Amino acid sequence: MNDIRIESLKELGEAARLFLDGIGESRVIAFYGAMGAGKTTFIKALCDVLGVEDDVNSPTFNIINEYRAENGDAVYHFDFYRIEKVSEAMDIGFEEYVYSGDLCLIEWPQNIEQILPVDTLKVQISVLDDGCRVVTF
Ligand SMILES: Nc1ncnc2c1ncn2[C@@H]1O[C@H](COP(=O)(O)OP(=O)(O)OP(=O)(O)O)[C@@H](O)[C@H]1O
Ligand SMILES: [Mg+2]
Repeated sequence: MNDIRIESLKELGEAARLFLDGIGESRVIAFYGAMGAGKTTFIKALCDVLGVEDDVNSPTFNIINEYRAENGDAVYHFDFYRIEKVSEAMDIGFEEYVYSGDLCLIEWPQNIEQILPVDTLKVQISVLDDGCRVVTF
């Protein structure tokens, strides 16, 4: 188990670098955490480290955003908050994305738990009483 503690927004960049160094070969990463815990914020920080120049925003209405990293690789950002049925994920081609070998960053994975690949890296983002975030994976 790894824990990365983030005391303020200023530490996000360093936290994102540590995280990317720590995930090994994982390509499908599921971010669990309460509303407002900081999932989108952390994904933005990861995309910054990867040199994504596109706007990184929660794809709440369209479920998926596609970005391009500095090295040319695609990065997929999913938000399943509003999904009502797992079939909606299938309809947007979720399985093709997650088995593509490209980096997939997923918010609200609990709503599509049944179709997450077995090797999905599960990450918890928690908020402490003092507002610090802890990223556990
Ligand atoms: N590490 C952090 N330190 C301080 N504030 C943070 C941190 N991460 C996120 N926040 C703040 O928390 C708020 C919510 O963040 P964010 O939108 O990333 O949460 P979320 O988990 O994606 O929420 P949702 O469940 O609605 O998708 C934002 O105002 C953001 O600036
Ligand atoms: Mg979000």
